[in-house]
Amino acid sequence: MRMKIGSINDAMSEFPEPVLRVDTMSNGFDLPILGGERRKQHLNEVLKMKMRPDDVIVATYPKAGTTWLQEIVWLICNDADTTLAKITMQGERYGWMEKLGSIAGKGLEELNTWPRERTRFMKTHLPFQLLPNELQNEAICKLIYVARNPKDNCVSSYYFHRMNKILPDPGPLNEFLERFYQGNLAFGSWFDHVDKYWQMSQERQGTIYFAFYENMKRNCKAEIKKLANFLEKDLSETQIDVIANHCAFENMKDNKTVNYSHLVESGLFDEKISKYMRKGQVGDWKNHLTISQNERFDILIQKKTKDWTLKFDFE
Ligand code: A3P
Repeated sequence: MRMKIGSINDAMSEFPEPVLRVDTMSNGFDLPILGGERRKQHLNEVLKMKMRPDDVIVATYPKAGTTWLQEIVWLICNDADTTLAKITMQGERYGWMEKLGSIAGKGLEELNTWPRERTRFMKTHLPFQLLPNELQNEAICKLIYVARNPKDNCVSSYYFHRMNKILPDPGPLNEFLERFYQGNLAFGSWFDHVDKYWQMSQERQGTIYFAFYENMKRNCKAEIKKLANFLEKDLSETQIDVIANHCAFENMKDNKTVNYSHLVESGLFDEKISKYMRKGQVGDWKNHLTISQNERFDILIQKKTKDWTLKFDFE
């Protein structure tokens, strides 16, 4: 099995000051994100990336089910080859556009030198406005976005901030909620992120597929079929069953190629606080938000989404 294990020391030395900074891109887009000047340069390189028609991109706001969707998409495109998926780290099968540092698999350099004859699988949390310029201007390749209701997305993100030593301590949930409300998190506002990708998916039907975590949870096989159709892949019922089974939460949480246990081993993730594959449920927010926090969340959602056609399931 190919595994690249970065140590906590490597990771911390690559981000000597684990604090959030705001980077202003040349196109005027502000993003609070780790990495300061180096990150800004990197994001400018992402903007210049050359796209290929057979590229496949998985884009999400962090903690919306990225790893899950990546696994489903990769298997759809690779004839449900779970044998290969079980021996190859997901971070080796995908490149991560905005990744800085040596941990967690392939990054921009590997994406730019990816063999032409092989489909290039990419993941990103970047807002649409920071995707490669070529892709912003034109529907060159297929992109799949998954969105998750903001309450579960926020709670999942809170636990991730607590267990991931590279991220600043989020403090009590109440403080983190404020940051979520204000969009003061690494990839900006959940509302802006989701809204822009939704708009683009409506404009670019056929090249941008908008999925919902809650639908994947409710009927994963039906979602796999729709995704296969979008990706123009013919799968048998048996292959769909195989993918659904491989990607069930109970199986993914014990699968070392996707559960990030190598980052627990290297000391970057503290599993005593929370696992990467934490609960995988819809409606877990109810176990964490107080009545008043929930009321405030509802008011914010109402305000921010009053003109949206997009609706989310919260339970
Ligand atoms: P929870 O923290 O609510 O459990 P990402 O991959 O974007 O970081 O998202 C992580 C979230 O997706 C976590 O949510 C994780 O448990 C959940 N997840 C990962 N694989 C899943 C699966 N197969 N089914 C359902 N949820 C899954």
